[in-house]
Amino acid sequence: MTAHAKSDPSLIEPHEFLTDEFRINPFPIYQRLREYDPVYQDKFQNRWIISRYEDIRAIYKDNNRFTRAVYNPHGKFKFGSDTTLGQTLNELGEGNDYIWLRGLVAGEFVGKRLEKRIPLIEQTAHKIIQEFMATAREDQRAGHTVTGQVELVSQFSARFPIRVIAGMLGLPEEDNSYFEAVYDRIFAGGGYGREHFRQGVAARDELFAYLDPLLDDRLVNPREDLLSTFCHAEKDGEKMSREQMRGYVALLLVGGGDTTHKAIDAMWWNLLRNPEQYELVRENPELMDRVFTEMLRFDGSNHWQRRRTKVEVEIGDKVLPVGATAWLGLGSGNRDEQVFNEPDTFNIFRNDLYFGKELRTGYWSENCASHLGFGQETHFCMGYALARQEAVVASCMLMDALKNPRLADVPNEGIAFPPPGRGGVRGLQHLEIEFDIF
Ligand code: HEM
Repeated sequence: MTAHAKSDPSLIEPHEFLTDEFRINPFPIYQRLREYDPVYQDKFQNRWIISRYEDIRAIYKDNNRFTRAVYNPHGKFKFGSDTTLGQTLNELGEGNDYIWLRGLVAGEFVGKRLEKRIPLIEQTAHKIIQEFMATAREDQRAGHTVTGQVELVSQFSARFPIRVIAGMLGLPEEDNSYFEAVYDRIFAGGGYGREHFRQGVAARDELFAYLDPLLDDRLVNPREDLLSTFCHAEKDGEKMSREQMRGYVALLLVGGGDTTHKAIDAMWWNLLRNPEQYELVRENPELMDRVFTEMLRFDGSNHWQRRRTKVEVEIGDKVLPVGATAWLGLGSGNRDEQVFNEPDTFNIFRNDLYFGKELRTGYWSENCASHLGFGQETHFCMGYALARQEAVVASCMLMDALKNPRLADVPNEGIAFPPPGRGGVRGLQHLEIEFDIF
């Protein structure tokens, strides 16, 4: 922060968003944005930052004046050319193609069809927990450690959701470690600069080449998996293109993997830093659902979503021109003091947050609002119920396995945006936990 900004908190400068301080703890800047400049024009990055809950809600509801489409479908851009995921519904606005693509698989992640996946979720978590518990026991027996130890990120969370989604897609289980590695490389493609992007695209193209024979197979031998759904989906006699199928797989692997993995880490980080709340959850595991919800409000994995103006839009005393990019600050809206009391406190018993099973329309009742961690309205996260199921089931199983868990005394910057060389969402780089082995 410059001397200016320090002496006058209302002076927000674009480079403040590029500092390591912001990467780790963006909340003080979010607070200044909400107070002094809630519709902030960042001329350096050519964007408008929207930081108050109500303004974010209003934009989410307003498909007439805002769109999620990054390209004009009739314009000169080639779909999938500017993302390491290829062609996905994330690039589309709100039209028929988008509705069709979302509708194809959205039902797989909720309700009865999700219930059918619970055994896959439980077995996957159980297997990974057994693996790291065996290592921890062996390390203690051999005298390498004096107590149980697990590095939760690499030994559990970075592996678990990706294996679940790979299982749902119908990808071969024996290739799980390949998916874990390739998704990591695709993410690295989101790092700052063209070289990272080039490497991410190379990883994606490798994944696409791997997928092609599997897609060819499902065209003639359909199974009960998402690859088969893609191969046989039809709208007015038209099928999905190969590019759309490949992109959908990349979107689900990456979108469903990284976010949920970081959510599980964040739940454990917050619980272990609030041991009195952990104790209550241990006594009553049903509270784990509350941990998931409050984690998404307090510091969820997704702090930003972009929208583009279709017309000139006035918000407060600012005017956004046509084609402007608005960055919706979900992480800031979730800490808005006009909506949540003591927003900087992690509290699974707060009474101003809606703790039911997700709400895409803002308020449950007066003084009881939904978190913004899954977005809102039309593009509300498609995997919301799957993510909750995975994170809650896995955390309860971890709670059974890890007796008397505590944070190991090693440096940890905590939940942060990825460093410049990496893409991906906000989360922990590592999380060492010690526990008792009897
Ligand atoms: C805790 C974990 C998760 C978080 C925090 C999260 C967050 C989000 C957010 C904020 C959006 C809104 C995008 C927007 O406003 O444009 C979104 C959309 C989406 N999410 Fe998630 N997500 C999570 C888990 C998942 C999972 C497990 C899947 C896959 C099964 C998934 C698939 C998607 C898809 C496909 C979209 C785009 C939906 C659309 O545009 O209609 N997400 N997610």
